Amino acid sequence: MSVNLLKDTQQQNAVVIFVDDSKKFLNKWNDPVLKDYAKAPLENDFNADYKESLLVYTDNHPLTQRLLFVGVGKKQDLSLQRFRILGAEIVKALRSKKVSSKVSVFVPKVGKLKVSDTIEALQTGADVFQFEFNELKGKKPKKKEAITFNFIVEQKADVTSGTKAQDRAATIAEGVNWGRRLVQLSPRQIYPETLAKEFEKMLKASPSKNKIKLSIWDEAELKKKAYGGILAVAQGSDNPPRFIIAEYRNGAKSKKPVALVGKGVTFDSGGLSLKPPPAQETMKYDMAGAASVMAAFKIVTDLQVKTNLVMIVPTVENMPSGKATRPGDVITMASGKTVEVLNTDAEGRLILADALYHATEKMDVAAVIDVATLTGACALAVADAAAGYFGNNQKVKDALHKASEQTGEYIWPLPDFDDFYVDLIKSDVADIRNIGKKREAGATTAALFLEEFVHNDTPWTHLDIAGCGWYDSPRDFVGMRGASGVPMRLLAQFVENFG
Ligand code: BES
Ligand code: ZN
Ligand code: ZN
Repeated sequence: MSVNLLKDTQQQNAVVIFVDDSKKFLNKWNDPVLKDYAKAPLENDFNADYKESLLVYTDNHPLTQRLLFVGVGKKQDLSLQRFRILGAEIVKALRSKKVSSKVSVFVPKVGKLKVSDTIEALQTGADVFQFEFNELKGKKPKKKEAITFNFIVEQKADVTSGTKAQDRAATIAEGVNWGRRLVQLSPRQIYPETLAKEFEKMLKASPSKNKIKLSIWDEAELKKKAYGGILAVAQGSDNPPRFIIAEYRNGAKSKKPVALVGKGVTFDSGGLSLKPPPAQETMKYDMAGAASVMAAFKIVTDLQVKTNLVMIVPTVENMPSGKATRPGDVITMASGKTVEVLNTDAEGRLILADALYHATEKMDVAAVIDVATLTGACALAVADAAAGYFGNNQKVKDALHKASEQTGEYIWPLPDFDDFYVDLIKSDVADIRNIGKKREAGATTAALFLEEFVHNDTPWTHLDIAGCGWYDSPRDFVGMRGASGVPMRLLAQFVENFG
């Protein structure tokens, strides 16, 4: 891993150069011999379409034996997101040729993009792409050799900023892949107790561990505090719940922290409102919200960002049993509000409600963001392309949008324009019902339910990641089916911007 000027670059196994659709190199490169090697292939065999690549062998050139041309299509279409994806494409192309070490990538200056941001994007895409999950295989496939990039920049000033950017990207991707592993593990390994343990173990190795306070409440503690939403969902399972609160203090004392709250349902069977088997198959990822805020917490604390941050994860397993909450049960939440639980599969909002109450009533926070695989309705609306969002404060929504544009993890507003939506969750017998009176606007009624538990006018945004938290097939720079890692980078970026 390094960032250098061309003149300081040692012999490499491969050198990567980007080419646009006019067949021009995006970097200035005055090596007549290598240019000569490039000429015929570029003229004949290569369109330089976005993501197209071509490998050319050179004989005994002092710099490299292999030139990898990577097409970018139209130069004006390039963006950081495209560079992330190209980072993964380079890894794919090199792997097919069994090249893994001594790879140099020429980094172009494109439009308004900073060279250091381009480096960060290429490295992030390559590292997230290389995540493998084989620990549950009895017969372990051979671990693929990690591919690291040496970047070649044109300006001396970009060596320093580029080196920082490359380190930063590696730290961020490590956090993302750490979180993705938690989602990939099965509910046999990850249940509330072990989810908390994995987080605790990670913090023990943190460079910020002296600035972090961790509390893990067990069931007895939750009972003492009467956190009725969490308890009601957990009571059907033999695996007891946990409530995880982590506080990181590395900013001005006077500055209130942001709170990140994540849904940690380690398996969602639906409870007595049992899901049909196909819908249960992937419900280990119902803790992707928890994994997202935990990974964001890891990234922020590994980067030692100068800020104050709180992370809260209510975690339960949602199971049917003789002890399970029944449809029709009325429960009392931590806040004292009563809820008519008409569908035990709408459990995420029950545990998040207690956590939002905790964040906004028991702690003093500047803003709270909750992240949850909350509704099938949201996934139906946006597929895996975005998180749906809903909130009570335009500034926070704008700040999330800004972070989202920086990291390429898209967010899209859920409908909120009509009072009719809130009428849908009124109950005859309790303060509120846990599902809408009809199926329509399911993502909005879920969000409105949560809003009932945001106290003291705390700025709040809810991100529904039911669609984007899991990819059914590889997408962008995520190389496999499963945990996408979205929106971990966005959350960390948001916290960092918030300061
Ligand atoms: N965990 C699910 C939501 C979900 C569905 C996430 C599909 C990812 C993919 C959630 O707990 C749930 O079951 N929600 C219900 C709510 C309904 C009963 C109002 C849903 O969306 O069907
Ligand atoms: Zn559910
Ligand atoms: Zn759920």
